[in-house]
Amino acid sequence: MNKSELEEYNELLPILRKLKEKYKGIGQDFTDYLQGLTVADGLKYWDYIHIDALLGLQMPRTPYKDEIIFITYHQICELYFKLIKLEISQLTDLEEKEYLQKANWIKRISRVNNYFKHLCNSFDIMKSGMDRHDFKAFRMALLPASGFQAAQFRHIEIMSTNLNELLPEEFKGKDIALETLYDNIYWKAGGIDLRTQTKTLTLLQFEERYDGEFLKMIKKYKNRNIAYLYDASDDEIKQDEEVKTLLKEYDQYINVYWKLSHLMASGRHLPGADQGTGGTNWRKYLPPKFQRITFFESVWTATEKSEWGKEAVTKMFKQRIEKDWMKPK
Ligand code: HEM
Repeated sequence: MNKSELEEYNELLPILRKLKEKYKGIGQDFTDYLQGLTVADGLKYWDYIHIDALLGLQMPRTPYKDEIIFITYHQICELYFKLIKLEISQLTDLEEKEYLQKANWIKRISRVNNYFKHLCNSFDIMKSGMDRHDFKAFRMALLPASGFQAAQFRHIEIMSTNLNELLPEEFKGKDIALETLYDNIYWKAGGIDLRTQTKTLTLLQFEERYDGEFLKMIKKYKNRNIAYLYDASDDEIKQDEEVKTLLKEYDQYINVYWKLSHLMASGRHLPGADQGTGGTNWRKYLPPKFQRITFFESVWTATEKSEWGKEAVTKMFKQRIEKDWMKPK
């Protein structure tokens, strides 16, 4: 063995020692595993990413070519939602000493914002990226399914804010049963058929599948959602301008910019129709200025709250000259 080979083996020794300890700890013979490695194939990209399964998940229900864009983009959104929840949970589901660290707030909320930035900026795929004629034809074949039934979007809301912020004005701060408050959560208004004033099938299905889960989650996150933790945190976090700015950006990304880009796609594909794809009056329900949802009450001034969404709408109408309108201040 020459000198450089000897050096290489010396570098390997501490790693081998560590591995030996690891296998000993789980009652396994390390030498057997090493033998196995001499014949094992290296991991392949397509196996690791599960490419075949992933690309097999887009299954159109109609012959219209653009339907696959609609399915794929929804799946992309769901994957981003999953990553957003993962970041949020690394603030909300931690031991106290960890969520009290400013650096962790900055890291997690920055990542959430980054995902939302991509979601907002890519929503045009749903607007100009699909043929209107195709959309109209295939969308009706998918009823009563609607993005309204995207449970992960609700998970994000429940993990981010207090139930109170998701209630209409007349229910805010009311000391009544949680179940009654939940029955009046803002999104249920989006599932009412305004002609008959009854729940749409879209909402009824959604309630049957998810109400129990959402209620459990609301209880779990009552004292650990982001807004709660922020208000309960010490001054190092609460007085920090960077954390405050990030929370403001987050609130605007999800509750103004995402909702506006979604509204614009609805406007293009459902022109003139009072009824949405789920049988709702989406023109009344979807605009952020009607919903007025803010997650982090304490970071906004009264004026900012009263003008919720106004600046974004102004920027949106100027978008031809101001390309990057989907960027919170
Ligand atoms: C052309 C594309 C789209 C159109 C025309 C559209 C239309 C609508 C409409 C009309 C509603 C109101 C409820 C209803 O009547 O069904 C709604 C709600 C909703 N959609 Fe979409 N949608 C589109 C794409 C998406 C995508 C890609 C997602 C991502 C998962 C999504 C997620 C949602 C969510 C979360 C709601 C509830 C919003 C809220 O409560 O404020 N939608 N959509």
